[in-house]
Amino acid sequence: MKRKLFFGFIAASALLFSNCGSSKKTTSAPKTTFANDITTIVQSKCAPCHIPDKGGNKKAYDVYDNVKTDIDNIIRRIELNPGERGFMPFRNEKLDAATIAVFKKWKEDGMPQ
Ligand code: HEC
Repeated sequence: MKRKLFFGFIAASALLFSNCGSSKKTTSAPKTTFANDITTIVQSKCAPCHIPDKGGNKKAYDVYDNVKTDIDNIIRRIELNPGERGFMPFRNEKLDAATIAVFKKWKEDGMPQ
């Protein structure tokens, strides 16, 4: 497989984007992981609804396996616009493009823990 090439490409584009990206974001981690990247977003953007510890009664997304299983549905929903059926985060503002890209990159990276 052309896996090496693929990762090289991802790394190169990550570098490229970090160079011309917005100044307030400093996520230049080479590989996206659940612990480093996804958890932070979920804790701030999907709380409290998807965090049982915070009183949420929706599917727990502070749990690796759940996010991994639902990743396609998650990406689909966060790419919708407010008002569209299924849009997430529910009743909140749409995530910014950089944040949506983190979920996509995590999937491309093979969803490491
Ligand atoms: C204000 C509460 C709230 C927030 C914040 C929220 N959600 Fe949800 N979420 C819900 C509700 C209510 C449902 C169930 C209704 C539905 O499926 O649309 C749901 C369902 C979902 C589902 C379908 C789960 C399943 O069982 O198939 C996904 C995927 C999802 N949310 C993703 C997210 C993501 C990702 C975030 C954060 C970026 C988020 N949600 C933030 C309330 C919320």
